[in-house]
Amino acid sequence: MHHTRRTLIAVSLSLTLTFAPLVTAFAASPQPAKGEHGMVVTAQHLASEVGVEVLKKGGNAVDAAVAVGYALAVVYPNAGNIGGGGFMTIRFKDGRSTFLDFRERAPLASTKTMYLDKDGKPVKGASLDGYLAVGVPGSVAGFETAREKYGTLTRQDLMAPAIRYAKDGFVLEQGDVASLEGGAERLAKDPAAAAIFLKPDGKPYAIGERLVQADLAAALSAISEQGRDAFYKGSIADGIVKASAEKGGILAKADFETYAVRELEPVTCNYRGYEITSSPPPSSGGVIICEILNVLEGYPLSYLGAGSAETVRIMVEAMRHAYVDRNSALGDPDFVDNPVEKLLDKNYAKEIREKIDPFRAGVSQELMPKGFGESQETTHYSIVDNDGNAVAVTYTLNGSFGAAVVADGTGILLNNEMDDFTQKPGVPNLYGLVQGEANAIEPRKTPLSSMSPTIVAKDGKPFMVIGSPGGSRIITITLEAIVNVVDHGMNIQEAIDAPRIHHQWLPDTVYIEPFGLSPDTEKLLAGMGYHLDVADATWGQAAGILVGGKSLADIEKGGGARYNGAIDSRAASGKAIGY
Ligand code: GLY
Repeated sequence: MHHTRRTLIAVSLSLTLTFAPLVTAFAASPQPAKGEHGMVVTAQHLASEVGVEVLKKGGNAVDAAVAVGYALAVVYPNAGNIGGGGFMTIRFKDGRSTFLDFRERAPLASTKTMYLDKDGKPVKGASLDGYLAVGVPGSVAGFETAREKYGTLTRQDLMAPAIRYAKDGFVLEQGDVASLEGGAERLAKDPAAAAIFLKPDGKPYAIGERLVQADLAAALSAISEQGRDAFYKGSIADGIVKASAEKGGILAKADFETYAVRELEPVTCNYRGYEITSSPPPSSGGVIICEILNVLEGYPLSYLGAGSAETVRIMVEAMRHAYVDRNSALGDPDFVDNPVEKLLDKNYAKEIREKIDPFRAGVSQELMPKGFGESQETTHYSIVDNDGNAVAVTYTLNGSFGAAVVADGTGILLNNEMDDFTQKPGVPNLYGLVQGEANAIEPRKTPLSSMSPTIVAKDGKPFMVIGSPGGSRIITITLEAIVNVVDHGMNIQEAIDAPRIHHQWLPDTVYIEPFGLSPDTEKLLAGMGYHLDVADATWGQAAGILVGGKSLADIEKGGGARYNGAIDSRAASGKAIGY
């Protein structure tokens, strides 16, 4: 949750707009990590090491992504998982690309109104805490599908490091401890979760102590030996279903037995000659990133400058219009006819540009569709191998530590992804998103996501791998990193570290990171009628790779490192490792 430190109400100031590039205060960033053969960027340093070891052993980027996915489930328990779900975007060395959807599905017994009371009001916390919040997990099926179809190493090889870290434990560093402290209150409410993630005296672990997860080691070993059936048909599913039935949930064995990964065509678009490949529905991410980029393409952002009032105004208006579409028109493609072609049409972007007032802030309420009634919560990692195969994975438990429940004996934290559905049209969710019918709950349906694992190519070659956690802000975080590299010439680390802004249609507020804009810029925007909220905390933890140099200028000079990796300076435990 982001608290308001300072709120600027729109005031009527007669200020002359200037189109001269303004200098924004970027914090100096560390240099990106360099590598000539491969690069792995994840939110936890041990997981990055696991990925690099797989590449060094001759595994490809998909092998490394699978090993990292299992490792993060152990060493990054707030978001890494086998009890949640996610997306994998793959761009192969020959230029083909694909997308694996292993996101959670609504249980068979779920209903559209399951989180409403008898008066039709949302029951506080019902879609966030405990077993009723849990969607059918997809991560194990996702990793196994990726490995079987596109990997080269054995399951045992790829799971061994995760099993070792669960069985022998790993030494906690400052970032790990901060994350466990953040979850302590919720984890304490579930005895099985508390027994693993808190010390016997109920206190959080301290720096230098070792977190051992014996039950998780046993679950991972069972999967390693028997494959996905150990999770979906065997004792793990039985344990979760039993705990769910005893504690107010609705998960059934049939939910697990019928879970299937979808392989989908990624969303693609072209931005100023760069080919963007990203997540299709059931994510809104790729579609909305492309819709915003299509609108931005009509403006000289590079000339207007990073962080200038004009650039911020244009970006906010593009975001405002695109998030109306996100929140009203998109949903699971098996249930909803998504208007992807229309939303990606350059003419549609032109229509949006024509509606944008060059002098005044737009008004979100006026864009209300007819009939319409943070952040460490997710994690993203980026990998490139020696052959040029690129993989972007974003996966999640939704909230930090998900529903904060562990079925006895499994060691597996379960997600609270059901909150990503529309509980009631017009009522905001965890991320303040106000959504519509296209994302209503139905059995087996997948809730609409914002996760945006994205790969950018130029002239047929991989150029950038990027993504982030951040709930509804994932889209703007990923978008801004791309714009910062392509339009503003930042290197990959600067592009990720640069202060962020966010607008999501409703609430009609421009969120700004602390010190993100100068007071003069804020005044210019307030004068145009923008309601600004300077947050007291940063958001997102992007993980990116740039190929051929650390920045466009470096690439043009031709002397840059082949792979340049950057973990967000906001990340407490992540690392970019090249070799
Ligand atoms: N749970 C965050 C997302 O999928 O967008």
